[in-house]
Amino acid sequence: MPHYRKLGKIPRKRHIQFRKANGDLYSEQLVSTEGFSDTYSLVYHHYPPTRVLKIDKSFSVAPEVAINKNMQNRSFQGFKAKPESDYIKSRVPVLVNNDVYMSLAAPTESMTDYFFKNSQASELIFIHEGSGVLHTMYGKIPFSYGDHLIIPRGVIYKFEFENDKNRLLIIESFGPFRYPKRYINKAGQLTEDAPFCERDIRAPEELESYDEEGDFLVMIKRDDEIFPYHYASHPFDLVGWDGYHYPFAFSIHDFEPITGRLHMPPPIHQTFDGRNFVTCAFVPRLYDYHPESIPAPYNHSNVDSDEVLYYIDGDFMSRKHVERGQITLHPTGIPHGPHPGAVEKSIGKKETNELAFMLDTFFPLKITKQALEMEDKDYYQSWID
Ligand SMILES: [Fe+2]
Repeated sequence: MPHYRKLGKIPRKRHIQFRKANGDLYSEQLVSTEGFSDTYSLVYHHYPPTRVLKIDKSFSVAPEVAINKNMQNRSFQGFKAKPESDYIKSRVPVLVNNDVYMSLAAPTESMTDYFFKNSQASELIFIHEGSGVLHTMYGKIPFSYGDHLIIPRGVIYKFEFENDKNRLLIIESFGPFRYPKRYINKAGQLTEDAPFCERDIRAPEELESYDEEGDFLVMIKRDDEIFPYHYASHPFDLVGWDGYHYPFAFSIHDFEPITGRLHMPPPIHQTFDGRNFVTCAFVPRLYDYHPESIPAPYNHSNVDSDEVLYYIDGDFMSRKHVERGQITLHPTGIPHGPHPGAVEKSIGKKETNELAFMLDTFFPLKITKQALEMEDKDYYQSWID
C-alpha cells in the first residue's frame, strides 16, 4: 500500500473553498477505493472532471482464450509479440484468469491521439526495454529499463517513449497492488527487513497542470471493452492532489535480494501482493554459502498456485535455452525443477546474474490464442535427457 504524498497546491483543509486568482472555485474530486473505505486521494481540477462531450462506439479488447483448462508445463517466446504503433492494439493478452491478466506489448510510438484509463483493473507495467515519461493526471514519472510502473485503477495516463524499441510486460489486477503484509509494520511503514523501502518508491513529480478546454479523447477500459470518451477539458488539469491513491515507479534494480546459507524459498523475492496472486523479482545475488549447498533450486510442486516466470536478462542457471522475454508456466501441482545437468553445474558457483519477474496465481491461468502462437510446443518434455 503506498504512503501519503502530496503534489502542487491544495487547500488547508479538505472540502473547503479553494479559489483561483480570479475568484472562481477549483473543482475538488475524491478518488476513492472500496467505496469510501480504503485508500483515496483528493484531487483539485481547473475544470469539473464531469464534462463529457460525447462517447463514441465501444470496441472489444477481450482476451481470446484458446485453452481454458491447462495442466501442462508450457513455455512461450514473449518477444514474438509484434511491434505495433497504437498502444491499445499493442497490448497482447497471454495468460488470464478472474484475478489477473498478463499481457505483452511492443508499442513503437508515443501516445499522441488519446489518453488511456483502465477502469477494470490496476496495472503493473514492467519496462523490459524502453524509456521515457509516463504522463499521468498526478504528474510525470520518468521510467527506464527495469521499472515496475504501478498505475492504480482509474488513473488517466499517456506514454511518451524515447524511441520505438519498447517491450512491456503488463499485469492487470482486478484488486489493488499492495506491499506484502509481512513487510508493513504497525504504523504502515515498510519494515527494516523488507527488500525495499520508501526511498525506492518514485511517486509522480512535476505536475502537468493544463488549464485547457477543447475535445480530449480518453479511451476507458471496462469489461474488456474500450469506451472512447470525449471530455471538454484536458485530463491533466490538476493544480494539486494529496492522498494514498496515485501511480508510482519501483525499479527491479532497487530490490535488495535476501540470501542465506541454504536455498531460500521464492517468498523472499516477493515484490507485491494482488488479489489471489503475488509478484516476485529474481535479481542478481550471491548464492547460498553453506559449504555443501546446492544453489540450483530443488524440484518443486506448488500444490495451490500456477507459477509464471518471465525471463528478463542474465544467465538462468536452472534452465537451458532461455531467451529474453521467454515465459514459462508451471501449473498447480505438476513438479518442475532444474533441467538435466543444472544441479551439478550450479555447485560451487558464487553468484547469479539472473533477472526475472514471477507471477504466482492461486487460481488456474487460461491460455490465449495469441500465446499459443508464441509457444515452444515441446517444453513440457524438456526435462528428458
Ligand atoms: Fe517453483
